[in-house]
Parts: sequence; structure tokens; C-alpha cells
Amino acid sequence: MQQSLAFLLQVCLLLSFHGNTCSGAGAGASINFSIVADSSLAAGSNFSSCLVSNGVSNFSLPASPSYATLLNSSVFNLRFTLPNVTRPAAIVFPGSRDDLRQAVLCARVSSLAIRTRSGGHSYEGLSYTTENHVPFVVVDLASLNRVRVDSGSATAWAESGATVGELYYAVGRSSGSLAFPAGSESTAGLGGLVSGGGFGLLSRKFTLAADNVLDAVVVDPRGQVLDRSSMGDDLFWAIRGGGGGSWGVVYAWKLRLVPVPLNVTVLQVGLTGPIELVAGLVHRWQYVGPDLPDEFYLSAYLPTGSTDDGNVSVTFQGQVLAAKERALSVLNQSFPELGLAEVDLSEMSWIESAAYFAGLSTADDLPNRGMQAKQYSKAKSDYVQAPISMRDVVEIVRYLSTGPTGSIQLDPYGGAMARVGRSETPFPHRAGNVYSIQYGVNWDRSQEALAEEYIGWLRSFYMYMAPYVSKDPRAAYVNYLDLDLGVNNWTRTAGGSSVGAVAHVRSSFGAAYFGNNFDRLVRAKTKNDPGNVFNNAQSIPPLAVIGLDNSM
Ligand SMILES: Cc1cc2nc3c(=O)[nH]c(=O)nc-3n(C[C@H](O)[C@H](O)[C@H](O)COP(=O)(O)OP(=O)(O)OC[C@H]3O[C@@H](n4cnc5c(N)ncnc54)[C@H](O)[C@@H]3O)c2cc1C
Ligand SMILES: *[C@@H]1O[C@H](CO)[C@@H](O)[C@H](O)[C@H]1NC(C)=O
Ligand SMILES: *[C@@H]1O[C@H](CO)[C@@H](O)[C@H](O)[C@H]1NC(C)=O
Ligand SMILES: *[C@@H]1O[C@H](CO)[C@@H](O)[C@H](O)[C@H]1NC(C)=O
Ligand SMILES: *[C@@H]1O[C@H](CO)[C@@H](O)[C@H](O)[C@H]1NC(C)=O
Ligand SMILES: *[C@@H]1O[C@H](CO)[C@@H](O)[C@H](O)[C@H]1NC(C)=O
Ligand SMILES: *[C@@H]1O[C@H](CO)[C@@H](O)[C@H](O)[C@H]1NC(C)=O
Ligand SMILES: *[C@@H]1O[C@H](CO)[C@@H](O)[C@H](O)[C@H]1NC(C)=O
Ligand SMILES: *[C@@H]1O[C@H](CO)[C@@H](O)[C@H](O)[C@H]1NC(C)=O
Ligand SMILES: *[C@@H]1O[C@H](CO)[C@@H](O)[C@H](O)[C@H]1NC(C)=O
Repeated sequence: MQQSLAFLLQVCLLLSFHGNTCSGAGAGASINFSIVADSSLAAGSNFSSCLVSNGVSNFSLPASPSYATLLNSSVFNLRFTLPNVTRPAAIVFPGSRDDLRQAVLCARVSSLAIRTRSGGHSYEGLSYTTENHVPFVVVDLASLNRVRVDSGSATAWAESGATVGELYYAVGRSSGSLAFPAGSESTAGLGGLVSGGGFGLLSRKFTLAADNVLDAVVVDPRGQVLDRSSMGDDLFWAIRGGGGGSWGVVYAWKLRLVPVPLNVTVLQVGLTGPIELVAGLVHRWQYVGPDLPDEFYLSAYLPTGSTDDGNVSVTFQGQVLAAKERALSVLNQSFPELGLAEVDLSEMSWIESAAYFAGLSTADDLPNRGMQAKQYSKAKSDYVQAPISMRDVVEIVRYLSTGPTGSIQLDPYGGAMARVGRSETPFPHRAGNVYSIQYGVNWDRSQEALAEEYIGWLRSFYMYMAPYVSKDPRAAYVNYLDLDLGVNNWTRTAGGSSVGAVAHVRSSFGAAYFGNNFDRLVRAKTKNDPGNVFNNAQSIPPLAVIGLDNSM
């Protein structure tokens, strides 16, 4: 491995000096080396000639007519499509594991930073943007989306460019009684989602996506292909919840599938009424949702704003791994205030319920990457560790009623989530967390001028919530990425040691996302990527040594 790597680098080096002889033209790009002007473009042409000479043909450069469309293709948060956002020197779509290795190695010899993109759903656009105008390439895994299910052993290998919907679809086709606990929207990618944990409707029963990873294949900063046994315990631990973008590129995950009944029960009950009424239900929900049997998921969703007569709304969404009768009897008993009737519940297969909660009309749309509406948005998150008093819930709902377009989503924890040890994976939000809150505001293109005001409102609301949520640290979920929590501003080129950066991160987003697991993440990072090749605004910094040669 080491030997062929060195050889490969020499080939790249050699070819890039004779770049003009490479006739690289991926995805319709036509390269004219004589017009190369700034260093980013030059690095891009270096990169593309390296790719071509190593057999990677599917890539696009800024000069290509398809570049903007390809860059846009999986961007979920349209804030990061605005013209002032720095664009990559190239986008490459590896078609195989070896292509992926070559893409990483070519980026490195061309001195380009790497941003890996799977589903493009990063709330802060970290998979396709960079800070401080550092020249970079996007390694987009959209073509690495194969899923192979083995229903006999109830496992699946999924390339990490597959979306949640592509995985669910493949699992559903192979068996009516197997499922996988991941997110509810179908277009998020497994690369990012599993790397950060992956909470979903099955998590109270089967915990996080990351908790159900049995093996993984990772391309590390040196282009080595590692699996669970060769990557070592720290790295295998870190990639299952330590956040995407810090560890290398996860090429594929081996997943443990979980058993579900042939039919599950789903419900969605909306209610509009005076603030006190809605607050009463939400107050009561706090004691119900997190305390139901593991088979039950019941969340609460509250949109901002109010009707002219001051009414507000709440929607309770539920999925129960049991027949309708049992679901109704348990919910009627534990949450009589909801006034559930039999018509509010329906039975369907798990795969149909996955489509239902993704907002799709048929399970056949699950693998369709174009199904979800994109938006301009900003989100934040919190953990609640003790139910909030009725009086305070009333004031919170009142505050919400004054907000711009947005919502809060309350996701029940408890159940199996509380029985996994805090340090088993980097995701620390286990026992003691009653529910999570996800806050969001969103707007459309015509409201661009209001964006700062919307985000400002969100930040004020978040400040308002401080007394009611976890403290020291005020925790947050890494998959609900929020740059307000701090950024990792250390770069190797800035020189010096990274001790200060580690301390800064530990006391800001590191503590919020990972709690006491942060230091083990730093150890894993220092061992596996001491040169900080895989970095972004909220990656884990290594404890690097001055003058360290990180090269290979
Ligand atoms: C509409 C929507 C619904 C969501 N629903 C849920 C939900 O139900 N549950 C939940 O837990 N989260 C949910 N999320 C959050 C989601 O888990 C994160 O945004 C996640 O990072 C998305 O993964 P991605 O591959 O789509 O993102 P990307 O933007 O492609 O990547 C996110 C981060 O991971 C890195 N990364 C991507 N691929 C790889 C890889 N193969 N190897 C290493 N690093 C990689 C990127 O560089 C980036 O830093 C949702 C997000 C959105 C926008
Ligand atoms: C390449 O650039 C040169 C110099 O600007 C120009 O004369 C030539 O027409 C360009 N070729 C193509 C194919 O764009
Ligand atoms: C192109 O690659 C060569 C060697 O691989 C390197 O020395 C040179 O700096 C690179 N040029 C740019 C602009 O990145
Ligand atoms: C990319 O998306 C933005 C936002 O929707 C849009 O304004 C822009 O025209 C898109 N560009 C391309 C090339 O699709
Ligand atoms: C880009 O512009 C938008 C609105 O004009 C602004 O809110 C945002 O902060 C800018 N982003 C950057 C990276 O400058
Ligand atoms: C390149 O990759 C994209 C994204 O997966 C795909 O749509 C396209 O068909 C690929 N092009 C080629 C020539 O393989
Ligand atoms: C507001 O709520 C009250 C009580 O639930 C209801 O009678 C009324 O119709 C609601 N108004 C609107 C506009 O929804
Ligand atoms: C709910 O429980 C109450 C009290 O036990 C009972 O009267 C009612 O019929 C139940 N409702 C349903 C829909 O089962
Ligand atoms: C599942 O539910 C559907 C719709 O109610 C029903 O037609 C079907 O018979 C049920 N299947 C099983 C196995 O219970
Ligand atoms: C990094 O951020 C910290 C905290 O905001 C700040 O004190 C420090 O000066 C920053 N360092 C650099 C190099 O920008």
C-alpha cells in the first residue's frame, strides 16, 4: 500500500508539470490551461490532470457549463448558493472506491483542501464551502450510492453517498420486516448523517444510525483504505458520531438492520387553538413522549406565528411498532388530553411509513434525490433535561407566536437512547436527556433582505430558552450544525501549535456536541490526521506539534 502510494504521487507530480498534455474533460469540462490565472484555477488544472492520468473522468471545473448545476445539485440550504460564497476549484464524482482514493491523493498533491459531500444537507454548507477563501475541491459521492442488503444476516453494506431514502428503499424491497434507524427526510446522505449519529423515528427502540454500524471502509488522509480491523478502535469509535469531515472519507458503512412488524401504526394529529391550550398539550407531552414504551415515537412540532385571533398550532407525529389497537390503548391511557380516536391512526408497512414521514406519496419516491424542497434556513438545537413548567411553556409558546417563518421540533429521547453509555460513541446525549429541541427559521429568495432579521430572531429565542435547557455545557447535536457555537479557526499554515485551538474548541462547540468525549476525539484525530488534512469550520483539531511534517 505504502509503496504504490509513493509511486502514484510521483506519477501525479510528473504529470502536473506537463499538465498541458493532459486532455482532461470530465462532465463536459473543457480545460484551457493557457487561460489559467489565479492560483485556485491553476491548482484546479493540476488537480484535473492528476485525476485524468489516474483514470478518474467524472469531474467538473468552473469553466464548464454544467459546473454550477452540479455544484447546486445536492445543496439543501440555499443560503450557500449566493454569489458571495466561495466556490470550489473542481467538483469530482468518484465512481468507485479507487476513484475516491485518487481524488483524495490528487487534491493533496495539488495543495487543495478537500470537502466531502454525500447528501449536501449540512445546515452550514460545510460539505461544499470553505472558510477564508482557501482553494478547495468538492469530492461528491453522489455516484457512490449502491446499497447491498443481505436479509439473511440482517445487514447491509451502503456506500456513503447513498441517501437515507435509497437505503430505506433497498431494505424495504429485500424484506417487509427489516428496517434501519436513521433520519426521517429521504434526501439526507448517509455520509454526513451516520457520521454525526443519525436520530430518527426508530431511535427510542434501536438508538442511532451510528450505534448500528458494524464495520466501515474509510479512505484516510494518506489515501489508505482502512476497515474496522485496520483502522483501530479510536478511529472506528470517532467516525460513529464524531461528525463528518474530520476523519477521512467514509466510503461505505456496514449496517445492522433491525426487525419491525409487517405493519406499523402511524399518526399525525394537528391542533390549532389558544396559546394556553397548545401549551397545555406540549407541557403534558414532556411527561409522555420520553416515557412511552420503546416501540413508541411521539414528537411535537410547533410552527411559529399565530392566526389573526391569536391561535397557535402544534402537530404530534407518531410511529408505533405495534398494531393500531395497542397503539391507541397505550396513547389514550398515557395522553388522554390528545383525544385520539381510531380514525387518527393507520397501519402500513414500515417502508410506507418511511415515505409518509418523508412527505412522499409513495415508497417508490424514496430513492429519488429530487424530492425535497430546498430552502434558505438557519437552525439551532438544545437538550431538555427536566420538563419545563406549565407557566414557562405558555411563555415559550407565546414567544414562538411572534416569530418569523420557522418552527421548533421536539424529539423524545428516553427508551433505548437512555440505555447506551455516554462514551460508547462520541454522541453523548443519552440518559438524562428528556428530549431535544430543533429550532429553525426559513425564508425564500424574495425575502433575502430579511435573512439577518430572521436569524437575529432565532438567536434571541435561543437566548430566551437558556434557563430551560442543558447547561455547562449547553449541549447541541452535531448533525444540527450551528456555527454560532464557535469555529475551529486553527490552520496549519497559520503556524504554531494547535494547543490553543484545541482549548478553544473544547470550551465551545466541542463541549456542546461531544461533552466529555471531546478529548478522545482529539486523540483519534491526532493519531490519524495530525496534519489536519480533513478539516472544516467545526472539525476536530489535532494536537499538532510545531514543525510537524504532515505530508504523507
Ligand atoms: C431536511 C433535513 C432533514 C434532516 N433530518 C435528520 C434526521 O431526521 N435525523 C438526523 O439525525 N439528522 C437529520 N438531519 C441532519 C443531517 O443528519 C445532517 O445535515 C447530515 O450532516 C447530513 O448528511 P449529508 O451527507 O446529507 O450532508 P453533507 O452536507 O454532504 O455532509 C455533512 C458533513 O459530513 C461530511 N461528510 C459527508 N459525507 C462524508 C463521508 N462520506 N465521509 C466523511 N465525511 C463526510 C461533510 O464533509 C460535512 O462536513 C437533517 C437535515 C436536513 C437538511
Ligand atoms: C485557449 O486560450 C487561448 C489564449 O487565451 C485562446 O487563444 C484559445 O482560443 C483558447 N482555446 C479554447 C479552446 O478556448
Ligand atoms: C501543481 O502541482 C505541482 C506538483 O504536483 C506543485 O509543485 C505546484 O505547486 C502545483 N501548482 C499549483 C498551482 O497548485
Ligand atoms: C443554484 O441555485 C440557486 C438557488 O436556487 C439559483 O439561484 C441558481 O440559479 C442555481 N444555479 C444553477 C446553475 O442551477
Ligand atoms: C452572503 O450574503 C448574504 C446576504 O447578502 C449574507 O447574509 C451572508 O453573510 C454573506 N455570506 C458571506 C460568506 O459573506
Ligand atoms: C457523473 O456523476 C454524476 C453524479 O452521480 C452522474 O449524474 C453522472 O451521470 C456522471 N457522469 C458520468 C459521465 O459518469
Ligand atoms: C381559534 O381557536 C378556537 C378554539 O380552539 C377556535 O374556536 C377558533 O376557530 C380558532 N380560530 C382560528 C382562526 O383557527
Ligand atoms: C380512551 O379512554 C377512555 C377512558 O378509559 C375511554 O372512555 C375511551 O373510550 C377511550 N377512547 C378510545 C378511542 O379508546
Ligand atoms: C397492514 O395494513 C394494511 C392497511 O391497513 C392492511 O390492508 C394489511 O392487511 C395489513 N397487513 C398485515 C400483515 O397486517
Ligand atoms: C480563534 O478564535 C479565538 C476565539 O474566538 C480567538 O481568541 C483567536 O484569536 C482566534 N485565532 C485566530 C488565529 O484567528
